[in-house]
Amino acid sequence: MGSTGEELVCVTGASGYIASWIVKLLLQRGYTVNATVRSIRDTKKIAHLLALDGADERLHLFEADLLEEGSFDSAIQGCQGVFHTASPVLVSVSDPQTELIGPAVNGTLNVLKSCSKAPSIKRIVITSSISSMIFNGKPLTPDVVIDESWYSDPVYCKETKLWYKLSKTLAEEAALKFAKEHELDLVTIHPGFVIGPPLQEALNITDSNFTKTALLPMTKASDSDFRDGVRLQIGKAGGFGEAAETVKAPKIPAFEDDD
Ligand SMILES: NC(=O)c1ccc[n+]([C@@H]2O[C@H](COP(=O)([O-])OP(=O)(O)OC[C@H]3O[C@@H](n4cnc5c(N)ncnc54)[C@H](OP(=O)(O)O)[C@@H]3O)[C@@H](O)[C@H]2O)c1
Repeated sequence: MGSTGEELVCVTGASGYIASWIVKLLLQRGYTVNATVRSIRDTKKIAHLLALDGADERLHLFEADLLEEGSFDSAIQGCQGVFHTASPVLVSVSDPQTELIGPAVNGTLNVLKSCSKAPSIKRIVITSSISSMIFNGKPLTPDVVIDESWYSDPVYCKETKLWYKLSKTLAEEAALKFAKEHELDLVTIHPGFVIGPPLQEALNITDSNFTKTALLPMTKASDSDFRDGVRLQIGKAGGFGEAAETVKAPKIPAFEDDD
């Protein structure tokens, strides 16, 4: 697929941190975007999307909830591609099935069911996670190479109460099975730790946890300005992948034509 300005794509969970950058990038490339959010009346969550360049002409907001079957139908109808990012990102939960696993797995299946009803769909890209790859109890020593043959083990995740990891693992497993059965062109991508400048107003869990657990203690320890802590951390890590950097990429590899 090229970006001639005629292609219509859907981004789920568009108010989220990663999805907001995907929407921005797609609009920059000339795509028309159907973006799903939980509520179009929640101005705090959508204002940054409406302010994006190209939004007036080519951004359409739809309400959709992972837990409602058929909820994504209208946003996906007529699209050539879908970027599915919506999934609960929670660290501490009291009811993992209700808060994480149900929405992640059933939500992903709901999105894929909507895709299977839309003959226009050429490719679906799911933001899975490194969480669905590395949690299987195998040693993670420096000599180990983790590749596409790696999957997290649901039993291991359950025994060790890694509920978010379990939700991502089961959602990806269900997605791959559904896509195979329905002959959908599905790509799953596995980011590790994605932080960077947020477009949205409120910090998401990843950014706020990273700030609390890594940056603030470092700043306190060094008695320096918080922003020094940010620069120090980013420098020490050899450069975390800032979402902003993706905008500079010449193509969207997972989504463009293979040739
Ligand atoms: N950030 C990372 O380091 C990282 C790394 C690997 C993978 N990922 C994956 O990337 C995706 C986006 O993560 P993020 O970091 O951008 O998190 P985020 O900002 O919290 O975004 C999550 C999105 O999912 C939506 N969502 C949650 N439950 C929903 C429901 N029941 N119905 C509809 N939408 C729902 C949220 O909507 P509300 O705003 O309304 O809650 C939000 O838009 C997730 O699939 C996550 O697992 C993230």
